[in-house]
Amino acid sequence: MLDLKNKVALVCGAGTVGAGWGNGKATAVLLARQGAKVYGTDINLAAAEETRGIIEKEGGACEVRRCDMTSSADVKTAVDACVARFGRIDILVNNVGGSAPGGPVDMAEEIWDDQLDHNLKTVFLGCKHVLPVMEKQGSGAVVNIASVAGFSHQVGGRVHVAYSTAKSGLLGFTRSTAIAYVKKGIRCNLVIVGTMHTPLVEARLMKQLGAKEAADLVARRHAAVPIGRMGDAWDVANAVLFLASDEARYITATHLTVDGGLTAARPG
Ligand SMILES: NC(=O)c1ccc[n+]([C@@H]2O[C@H](COP(=O)([O-])OP(=O)(O)OC[C@H]3O[C@@H](n4cnc5c(N)ncnc54)[C@H](O)[C@@H]3O)[C@@H](O)[C@H]2O)c1
Repeated sequence: MLDLKNKVALVCGAGTVGAGWGNGKATAVLLARQGAKVYGTDINLAAAEETRGIIEKEGGACEVRRCDMTSSADVKTAVDACVARFGRIDILVNNVGGSAPGGPVDMAEEIWDDQLDHNLKTVFLGCKHVLPVMEKQGSGAVVNIASVAGFSHQVGGRVHVAYSTAKSGLLGFTRSTAIAYVKKGIRCNLVIVGTMHTPLVEARLMKQLGAKEAADLVARRHAAVPIGRMGDAWDVANAVLFLASDEARYITATHLTVDGGLTAARPG
């Protein structure tokens, strides 16, 4: 079950911000545990190296490279390097992303542009350079990472209009790409992630809100999820693993929501 032996996975954003497990790091390690050779990219090489160290210590195969996923030249170089090292790409995980607060009036134009680049263009560029490799192979699975913030908005909650726009845009991107490549043996799906307790959340919230307010917000986030707590990076990694695996061979152009019931209880 969920065996990835002989598969090569390119995980974008394979490190994590701060200590602990982010979605990209947990995904890279889980795919390696299932037998995949992992090629990890990250803008922070040290973070990606940490992931590589964990995988290699467990006996897996992993190569990493510093790569800014908003740069087409960087992404092309990383994709070529992955193919040169491992010979193919069976799985692409587009995990790079993150939110900045702000509404349409108070948000600076540069933040809007950055957010769309960070959350949407990174996925576009990952697909742009990997899909030709998969097409040549006649097979492949792409998993993109979105957020419930793209689809559900709490009255009085934090507004992050560019993040919401980009993450909901990923649904259209994923479905459209999936149908464009459905006859070529390539599947493309989306994981819609709820409020997860990953290092990025605390690092970012701490910076934006300060320790006390950040701790209060984390507590409120746990309480707001019907299942009783936020999820963690492994919950996301397990969903990615399933969608990337051959067990999901009939699943394409769709999404899997991993949110402990959040969106059902709080319809947008
Ligand atoms: N953490 C959550 O609660 C949550 C909720 C919903 C969605 N998500 C989504 O999950 C994904 C991962 O989030 P996370 O919190 O687990 O972060 P993470 O810990 O997986 O960290 C992301 C990694 O991406 C790297 N990165 C940032 N910009 C990059 C770039 N331009 N090119 C290459 N690498 C880059 C960072 O250095 C970091 O190592 C994001 O797309 C995020 O929007 C997270």
